[in-house]
Amino acid sequence: MGGKSSKYDNNLVHDNKMGDESSKYDNNLVQDNKMSGESSKYDNNLVQDNKMDGESSKYDNDPDRMLCDQTSPPAKLPFQYLKTITNNFSDTYAIGRGGSGVVYKGRMSNGEFVAVKKLQLSLPSFQKQFENEVCHLMYLNHPNIVRLRGYCYETQNVFVEHNGNFVCAEMSERLLCLQYYPKGSLAGYISDESSGLEWDTRYNIIVGIIYGLKYLHEEKVKPVLHMDLKPANILLDDAMKPKITDFGLSRLLDQQQTLSTSSRDGTLGYMAPEYLHAGTVTAKSDIFSLGVIILEVITGHKDYPDVTRTSSERFVELTLDKWRSRNPLNKSPGYIPKIRRCIEIGLACVNLERKGRPSTGELIKLLQGRMTLDEV
Ligand SMILES: Nc1ncnc2c1ncn2[C@@H]1O[C@H](COP(=O)(O)OP(=O)(O)OP(=O)(O)O)[C@@H](O)[C@H]1O
Ligand SMILES: [Mg+2]
Repeated sequence: MGGKSSKYDNNLVHDNKMGDESSKYDNNLVQDNKMSGESSKYDNNLVQDNKMDGESSKYDNDPDRMLCDQTSPPAKLPFQYLKTITNNFSDTYAIGRGGSGVVYKGRMSNGEFVAVKKLQLSLPSFQKQFENEVCHLMYLNHPNIVRLRGYCYETQNVFVEHNGNFVCAEMSERLLCLQYYPKGSLAGYISDESSGLEWDTRYNIIVGIIYGLKYLHEEKVKPVLHMDLKPANILLDDAMKPKITDFGLSRLLDQQQTLSTSSRDGTLGYMAPEYLHAGTVTAKSDIFSLGVIILEVITGHKDYPDVTRTSSERFVELTLDKWRSRNPLNKSPGYIPKIRRCIEIGLACVNLERKGRPSTGELIKLLQGRMTLDEV
């Protein structure tokens, strides 16, 4: 991020009258700039082995002391340590279950928590997902991206029974250690217009996700495509600031801006039609998923005009009416134009034609009112 974009960010914050929030954002942006500088170091070397060795020696190979230090970069952690802090991966410490394994909270000696994602042992496809997630998270550093604290990859030879005989087998443990966000994922906060999160909170979540995605698509030497954006993969910190997580399916884009694939990994309802039907992968696949999330955050459901067969104009008006009736005494709350803009932006993102979808840079300009949808 150069000085230019941080200027825009401040404008956006100002424009949104986020009040106290803005100072938090400003701090993040400062931090963001600092971190972007730091991440350019990662660009040259995805896994910074040397740096990590140096760090761990500073802590005499004491993983707990190292993890308690919030400034330490992600490092290799012993399986035994992660087992201990999660109380032997007990169910009472489980905080989430996904397709690739179970996420536990782990308690460090200072009483603070980390999240420990333990991938299932048996499936070979998880090796690729694990490498993806670790390598890509090491490459990333942004206030709207989950923070990797460490990883563990340990293989042991064990004797197991097989068809009545004992054979020697290799067993690998693959774990990620992440910053812990006690509010969990955005999936737990999706609700329709009549209840749940207030508009300002929903708006800040939408803006944060867009900034996180802009960083992935436009601010790295090699753009990162997430490929599985959905509310369950957006974590929320104490201040309800979103953090994009779950990079198991993510890809780095090299020279070519379009990839073709035979796999269809992702989540139905969030996958772009050209990916679902033809395996075409571009940054616009993530934009489609983002559009579904934006509309879901505003309305509480994943339906949009193409699905419901209502016209876009009618969809916008119906949604605005529901927001107006949330606060019946004030028939025309001042945030209505902002909601309208966000719905229209969400609808542009779920355009069935990928070329008609805005890029993340354009999305920021649209939010700020520095660009119109006709110009996309
Ligand atoms: N750092 C964290 N802090 C708090 N909760 C978390 C954290 N990481 C994950 N979770 C919880 O665990 C759930 C599953 O995590 P994640 O999406 O990383 O796993 P997954 O197995 O890859 O999921 P998927 O089914 O999308 O493949 C999240 O939706 C969230 O509820
Ligand atoms: Mg997930």
